[in-house]
Amino acid sequence: MAEPHLKPTLRIVDEGADGVDRAFRADVLAGLSQRQKAVPARWFYDERGSQLFEDITRLAEYYPTRAETQILAARGAEFAALTGKGRAVVEFGSGSSVKTPHLLRAIAPAAYVPIDISGDFLRESAASLAADFPGLPVLPVEADFTKKVALPSQLAGSPMLGFFPGSTIGNLVPSSAVDLLRSMRETLGEGSQLLIGMDRIKDPAILIAAYDDPEGVTAAFNLNLLSRINRELDGDIPVEQFAHHALWNDQLARIEMHLVAQRNVAFEVAGQRFAMRSGQTIHTENSHKYDPRSATMLLVASGWTPLAEWQDDDARFGLVLAEASEPRSAP
Ligand code: AVJ
Repeated sequence: MAEPHLKPTLRIVDEGADGVDRAFRADVLAGLSQRQKAVPARWFYDERGSQLFEDITRLAEYYPTRAETQILAARGAEFAALTGKGRAVVEFGSGSSVKTPHLLRAIAPAAYVPIDISGDFLRESAASLAADFPGLPVLPVEADFTKKVALPSQLAGSPMLGFFPGSTIGNLVPSSAVDLLRSMRETLGEGSQLLIGMDRIKDPAILIAAYDDPEGVTAAFNLNLLSRINRELDGDIPVEQFAHHALWNDQLARIEMHLVAQRNVAFEVAGQRFAMRSGQTIHTENSHKYDPRSATMLLVASGWTPLAEWQDDDARFGLVLAEASEPRSAP
């Protein structure tokens, strides 16, 4: 597809006159004002953060990307048998779209619709993917997919296949995950399908190593959030006084990442003062893990009925195909 199709339809970053992203400032100021300080994980992904995440996906300890790609590469015929031909593939948070070619090659889609909040990344990856799939309409949409997204009118009437790889769903606590999965169902419509990656519960030692690698790449990824706050929100957080910490929260079945103050610190962000005691943390990420039943429960609670599930050879990662269908049984 040529240029005109690659123009995103709307711009969602809300910059004030001072060039500051208002949502970022609001999230950071509210999060730092809580007793347990916290900043939502979506703010990791500035340019440097996105680069560091790419580096993470190549670490020996970080298995999810390789495990999911293995499933996508190996199970194409099974996906195709269940999705049928001619679905429009709608990818939520497409980023660099590295896993997508496996899916597109397998199922003969009618169109590819990457949705992402970051327009620059979206345009680049949509253009390179379009070049690899001549004849496939590629229709990028720059939007916040936590709300219902208006899909391009060319798609009216096509059956949809949502694609949400990477276990990104795991960043959300279950109530927010249900909200998101319901929004996706609204975006895609009745009768659509969703192929979603969900990382598995496993030996905590393997999980912790994946989020606390010896090379310190994940530590740099976590600490970069503080540098971003300093740069974009006029902060003076002493970044070198913080340390990366990853832990397994067994009760809630999630990895948590924190930034731990190494001594008492005081700093300013966007004109507001904050203080932290030595050992106090800023909670920066949750990465929920699932077993087949908790994965099913989350999907069913959101109006998605599982049709099939696949895992990699080491059973580390799961991919679930689900369908937006009316529940078949009594309440
Ligand atoms: C992109 C949210 C799936 O939770 O594994 C990787 C992000 N954080 N290492 C994950 C992440 C630390 C990643 N997700």
